[in-house]
Amino acid sequence: MPLIKYVEHNGTEHQIQVSNGQSVMEGAIDNMVDGIAGECGGSCSCATCHCYVHEDWVAKVGGPNEIEEGVLECAADPRANSRLSCQITVTDELDGLVILLPESQY
Ligand code: FES
Repeated sequence: MPLIKYVEHNGTEHQIQVSNGQSVMEGAIDNMVDGIAGECGGSCSCATCHCYVHEDWVAKVGGPNEIEEGVLECAADPRANSRLSCQITVTDELDGLVILLPESQY
């Protein structure tokens, strides 16, 4: 099971094993990680699962598609490494992924 590291805005780290096929958002919600709300349940329409992919992982995770890009425009403080965590599917290739959480989802 891949290990995902979530880093809250205040620096608090959570190392969580997330099953292949789950989203990075689901891994956070299931383990009560503060900083991801996921209000739409993963349907790419709320932007409350906004996260920043650590720079070391941007190339491997890849960028958003056109629909996700549009939703990200509604996120607070979007950056070049922004993604919606519900749109990142966990695979063995993402073992060790570092996800940085924004200060707020609103
Ligand atoms: S959970 Fe709503 S856009 Fe990701």
